[in-house]
Amino acid sequence: MHWAAALPLDPAQSVTAAVKVRMGARCIMDLVPLAAAAVIVVVVLALPPSAASASGTSGGRLHQHALDGIWTLTNKARGLQAAGRVPGGVYSDLRAAGHLPEDLFYRFNDVAYRWPARENWTYERSFQVPRGAVAKAKQVLVLHGVDTVADVYLNGHLLGHTDNMFVRYRFDVKDLLKEDAANLLEVHFTSPVLAAAARAARQAEQYVVPPTCPPANYHGECSVNLLRKMQASFAWDWGPAFPSAGLWKGVALEAYDEAVLRDVGFDASPGASGAWEARVRVHWEAGAGARPAAPAATSAVLSVVLAPADGGAPIASKDVPVTLVPDAHGLGHTDVGLSVPRVSHAGVRRNTCTPPKYFNLVK
Ligand SMILES: *[C@@H]1O[C@H](CO)[C@@H](O)[C@H](O)[C@H]1NC(C)=O
Repeated sequence: MHWAAALPLDPAQSVTAAVKVRMGARCIMDLVPLAAAAVIVVVVLALPPSAASASGTSGGRLHQHALDGIWTLTNKARGLQAAGRVPGGVYSDLRAAGHLPEDLFYRFNDVAYRWPARENWTYERSFQVPRGAVAKAKQVLVLHGVDTVADVYLNGHLLGHTDNMFVRYRFDVKDLLKEDAANLLEVHFTSPVLAAAARAARQAEQYVVPPTCPPANYHGECSVNLLRKMQASFAWDWGPAFPSAGLWKGVALEAYDEAVLRDVGFDASPGASGAWEARVRVHWEAGAGARPAAPAATSAVLSVVLAPADGGAPIASKDVPVTLVPDAHGLGHTDVGLSVPRVSHAGVRRNTCTPPKYFNLVK
């Protein structure tokens, strides 16, 4: 049993993705010809030339337009406006703007500063569509992390509702983007405390799902168990309640013709023949949902290369033809298996890999 840690991809490398895999030192020394600390898995998706790129309108496969930075944070009910940072959250923004004058963790400021969590907030900004993105077949707005209950609007059009802090939201915006004018992106957040209370009231019509509220001496908020939001944000025994709202990860406009690579997973185990059997799972995306006009599938070649992280010759590689057939959300994945001969090193015994220990039992 071996384990891998996926690193975030560089989306600018439109069809190339890399993941650095760390394993136990003994495992890795048996897998690579050097005393490397890690293996790099490089994945390249070779796509057929599309009409848009053949016509010379694009300078690359993917146009990635980051929308991070300073947005405008408003609270219409209070007539309050401040700089809103993305990625970020209301508590940091209100503190930076002077609306929360004292340190949040000083004395009873968790109780004094509970009002931001009971308010609705809007993060908004305008942006121009970059020239290279205009001609692309797919234009997808990607919100990597939304905390938590919100409605997302582009140019006044409701793109969708969010209620899960732990997932990536993607919206097809091809028919909504203005090419020659400013586009207005708004995220309207509902108070997480009020949203949780509303859910609890609805749920109670059937039966109550405990625990409803934290112990009184936590000075926390109730019914966080009905929200897919960081549970500690409503108070925990070790921490105060600061239920934030905001875009806690990046936001980007992605424009491309065929597909992008989103993530790579890696796993390897000792095979029967004395080799390592490596499995690479490549997560790709082709738009943000089915468009009737778009071709259903794309033929491509997926190349997977395993290489020592500290340089040196590749230790294994494989090219596989793939047909990218996305699901109704534009998502898909492809599995590639590789056999990697083991490498002998002085002092390293085979089959001695042990999975990492995360917990120690204390008696
Ligand atoms: C916040 O928005 C909800 C609807 O999403 C509304 O019911 C509530 O009254 C609003 N609260 C404030 C303080 O504006």
